Amino acid sequence: MPFARVNGNMLFYREVGDGPLALFVHGFPLDHTLWLDQLKGLAHVRRCVAVDLRGFGKSDPTVDPSLTMEMLADDVAGVIQALGADRADLVSLSMGGYVALALYELRPSLVRSLTLIGTRASADSPEATRARDALADRLLDQGRNAVASELVTGMLGRSPSRRAQARLRSMIEGTRYETLIAALQGMKERQDRTSLLSRIDVPTLVVGGEDDTIVSVDEIRGIVQQVPGARIAIVPDAGHLAPIEQPDQVNQALIELLEGRKVVWWR
Ligand code: MLT
Repeated sequence: MPFARVNGNMLFYREVGDGPLALFVHGFPLDHTLWLDQLKGLAHVRRCVAVDLRGFGKSDPTVDPSLTMEMLADDVAGVIQALGADRADLVSLSMGGYVALALYELRPSLVRSLTLIGTRASADSPEATRARDALADRLLDQGRNAVASELVTGMLGRSPSRRAQARLRSMIEGTRYETLIAALQGMKERQDRTSLLSRIDVPTLVVGGEDDTIVSVDEIRGIVQQVPGARIAIVPDAGHLAPIEQPDQVNQALIELLEGRKVVWWR
């Protein structure tokens, strides 16, 4: 199985296709399988690699008390280098987007294009911080499986397919407790990178699910307005996880970005 040794950890990745590297960075509490439809649909245009971040999926477990976005960004930089690439098309979702923005701030030369799905540049509000603490308590008190049902409802759109629900539940139930707690801590501590947006000078695609209750369409539009020349795709019938809820539409938007084609659908 393919692993990259980065910063003392073995990080698992799944790879398909040839050509310039596209690196896929998952959100919380997910893993590389979030991107299986994208790997299948984009293998003809890119060397597609979906990584399990430190502590997640098949990557090494972690005892870090906080998985900071900067630490995870440094890991992603290490994966790009371990794969022998100078830079990558970075495709990210939610927490993966926080990591992608941190990477762009710290090592912009590693990023050829940026796709931000269901994410935000701002830091947590006090309410969001409290909600993370409450989620950490529920996870530890009631267990991951009890919390999975509330996350499945909250992260998917109005009438998610059973397949999307099953995929999300597998990812949540497969994530270690120590990783869940450390990632919640890292997201809670993350910096506000709103001021970075106007300095992004690589092709950028921002994607939102029309029914996303975690990151609203207005927030997605707000990012697009600040990144020079950014494209937007608002995906109908999708919540927070458009890549598994509406894979064909997400793949189409990605292919248009990666091939530099005119956008044929966007709102
Ligand atoms: C994610 O999908 O990565 C999370 O919803 C991000 C967050 O909780 O801020």
